[in-house]
Amino acid sequence: MLHRRAFTVSVVWTLLLLYLGSVVHATESSLACPDWPTCFGTLFPEMSGGVFWEHLHRLVAGGLLLMFALATWLARKETADRPWVFRTCLAGMALLVVQALVGGLTVIYRLPDLVSTTHLALALLFLVLATHVASATSWSREASAPDAGAARRVSKFATAAAVLVFLQSVLGGLVRHTDAGMACPDAPLCLGRLVPPLVNTPIILHFGHRVVGMLALVAIVWLAIWVVRQGTTDAIRTWALLAAGLVVAQVSLGFLSVLTVLAVLPVSFHTLGAAALLTALVHLATLARVSAGSPTQAPETQAA
Ligand code: HEM
Ligand code: HEM
Repeated sequence: MLHRRAFTVSVVWTLLLLYLGSVVHATESSLACPDWPTCFGTLFPEMSGGVFWEHLHRLVAGGLLLMFALATWLARKETADRPWVFRTCLAGMALLVVQALVGGLTVIYRLPDLVSTTHLALALLFLVLATHVASATSWSREASAPDAGAARRVSKFATAAAVLVFLQSVLGGLVRHTDAGMACPDAPLCLGRLVPPLVNTPIILHFGHRVVGMLALVAIVWLAIWVVRQGTTDAIRTWALLAAGLVVAQVSLGFLSVLTVLAVLPVSFHTLGAAALLTALVHLATLARVSAGSPTQAPETQAA
């Protein structure tokens, strides 16, 4: 079943593209190509300085569009028994086209905060969609959970955690694009206090991002401990523990970003960390839902 591989490659490709996009911003290369869709009027500019990162980001985005188009075409042939897969792929294709246009708008309108943050939000939405179809179609008979009720509850909690991480990431995008990244220049305290004086928007956004980040940390670690105690499958337990490890790494990278005064490496890995955490939670939610016997699975793989 080639569509499964094509979906998995699309997810990994999207993670790489998210990382590259973050490097574009962190290296201040966002306007290195002053025009769009070409770069200095050509598709093959000299790949040096900021142009290297910005144009590479565009080329990898073009590659993702082709890769996902291939996955959509394969899904149409190979998942005729589950029309929702093809329909979701078409929505994903539309999302990618809109995302490329929004990427173009960030350049044409010289990086307005809201357009840049929307570009991040749409990238994460596409990642959620691609991960969901990849996970739902790669499920196999062995993954059937002994306690369907527990698996359904895991799926609900993992979905709630994924929504929280998505909202926290959009808030992080606002922190980044309104230049509030150093509004609290110290860590772990903020302006030397546990709760700083909330006197302006940058401090409110930055402090809010830290608070929701700590909430997400507690919620996802609790989720993993709870999942380990449930009657589920090895794969579900493994992904819950992976999500817990990722959220710990993500919070550490957030503090490291501040302590290094937003150095390129920690901030770019902070974007990648958010995306990887979201992927892990969506995969966990889908895996749990399908292993509880949801209608998303292929009839021939349904548990007896
Ligand atoms: C050809 C189409 C695209 C163009 C012209 C484009 C352009 C850009 C530009 C200029 C930035 C820097 C924005 C800033 O500094 O505020 C950026 C960042 C980014 N891009 Fe794209 N992009 C394109 C497609 C995509 C696609 C398809 C994805 C993912 C599915 C994506 C994901 C990202 C991400 C995650 C960032 C970082 C956002 C942030 O730091 O908040 N881009 N892109
Ligand atoms: C689950 C927890 C967290 C998630 C999912 C998360 C996610 C994100 C995301 C997606 C961004 C935007 C990156 C971009 O636009 O490319 C961001 C920005 C940021 N985050 Fe977090 N974050 C978390 C926790 C934290 C914590 C605890 C801190 C601690 C200080 C932190 C500090 C920052 C900073 C300083 C920025 C702005 C970076 C810049 O200006 O370049 N984050 N976060």
